[in-house]
Amino acid sequence: MSEQQRPGAQTDAPVFSPRKNGQAQSVSDELAAWMSTGWADTELRDLKPVEQAGHTARRRAALSAAFPGERLVVPAGQLLTRSNDTEYPFRAATAYAYLTGDTSDGGCLVFSPDSDGGHDVVLYLKPRSNRENGEFWLGGYGELWTGRRHSLDEAAALLGVPTADVTGLTEALRSDAVTTRIVRGHDAALDALVDGLRADADEDSRAGSARLDEELAVTLDDHRLVKDEWEVAQLQLAVDATVRGFEDVVRALPQAKDTSERFVEGTFFLRARVEGNDVGYGTIAASGANATTLHWTRNDGPVREGDLLLLDAGVETTTLYTADVTRTMPVSGTFTDLQRKVYDLVFAAQEAGIAAVAPGRPFTAFHEASQRVLAEGLVEWGLLEGPVERVLELGLQRRYTLHGTGHMLGMDVHDCAVSRQEVHLYGDLEPGMVLTVEPGLYFQPDDLTVPEELRGIGVRIEDDVLVTEEGRTVMSAGLPRSSADVEAWLAERLPR
Ligand code: GLY
Ligand code: MN
Ligand code: MN
Repeated sequence: MSEQQRPGAQTDAPVFSPRKNGQAQSVSDELAAWMSTGWADTELRDLKPVEQAGHTARRRAALSAAFPGERLVVPAGQLLTRSNDTEYPFRAATAYAYLTGDTSDGGCLVFSPDSDGGHDVVLYLKPRSNRENGEFWLGGYGELWTGRRHSLDEAAALLGVPTADVTGLTEALRSDAVTTRIVRGHDAALDALVDGLRADADEDSRAGSARLDEELAVTLDDHRLVKDEWEVAQLQLAVDATVRGFEDVVRALPQAKDTSERFVEGTFFLRARVEGNDVGYGTIAASGANATTLHWTRNDGPVREGDLLLLDAGVETTTLYTADVTRTMPVSGTFTDLQRKVYDLVFAAQEAGIAAVAPGRPFTAFHEASQRVLAEGLVEWGLLEGPVERVLELGLQRRYTLHGTGHMLGMDVHDCAVSRQEVHLYGDLEPGMVLTVEPGLYFQPDDLTVPEELRGIGVRIEDDVLVTEEGRTVMSAGLPRSSADVEAWLAERLPR
């Protein structure tokens, strides 16, 4: 249906899309008056808070305590233009969703210092669309175009935080002179507004402001390092949906062979959209030599019998927690001897890495354990000249393994990336941390240092591991890891 088909609309604007640039559309007075009336009251009352409201309250209290007397601005982010008047799918900024439980666009959480050394915390949100001035159906962001939003009262009840109309945000931020920090990079207008408030006159002062924002980002990532019980449950939901997505892919392998890696990507995406919000990162569906490209997301290559398929994919929940899992599987259902040899070395490296995940162990331990196994294997195969200690010291194995063995996992796939090095990269593991263990070997198709038969083989095995009081739990244990188990799993699922 187009607008001009509506009763009473004038016919001088023969376009379907609304104007998003603020130009009013031509509408008769009669239609405008008629559209503003006759709508039922749909306000939802007596709403119960969402499950995570207690957790978000505690997180806000922790952040408040870290920055007494200062204003903190945490934007959700804005829609990003894809082309003309269409936008990319929206994904709320991690810190915003972590502190509010909200995932809608255009909002902003503001901590304003109160007289007791704490903060008044207000969530500024888009309110329901105005029905008096026609914005709800004429503006391109009105609710009849984009869907009903929660009223401010509904959002306050659901999220357990006071709400206010986002149109009052600028004035609120300008209302008093107080040290202000913002989570930058999500809302250009708010970044600019805060810059304007600071009015830094010289380089030193600008550097000081940059430090303020950086400290806020670092603190938020520090706070997110250890997951609470609710977060662990969300991550398990993400992983479980991901396991089902991998099984979908196996059942769809015949169609992938008839088409391309895109069929693998699309099959997994269906699962991600049905069970979650999206994929947590671009799916890597890499068959044959494409598996030697670490972040192969073009996914436009063929899927051939006899090749390995490396699938690195994760479902992101509607609450924005993502899995990050890789399996490398023979398309035919059976590894060749050479593929198995490579696979089994990567598996041994992963076993050693997972065994090194435990509370109190350094974060670097699992990486070192995996790299040692890879280096030993590569020396034994004659690809690297020993001794192993020399290889490890010089990092020579990296020619064939390229990347680190894992990373923190949570709302971001590479989670808590700016947390303090002393508590993360050079810190010790603690119960509640979740990380990936993902060794790999990649023999490039044009690498003359390896025997020809190895060229074009890429293998990665990636699991999501929770640090527990006792040791660890492999959250993605629903998928097979050893070569024999992968084959048995394929045999049960591959269509005959
Ligand atoms: N999927 C990207 C990674 O494994 O880190
Ligand atoms: Mn991955
Ligand atoms: Mn990963």
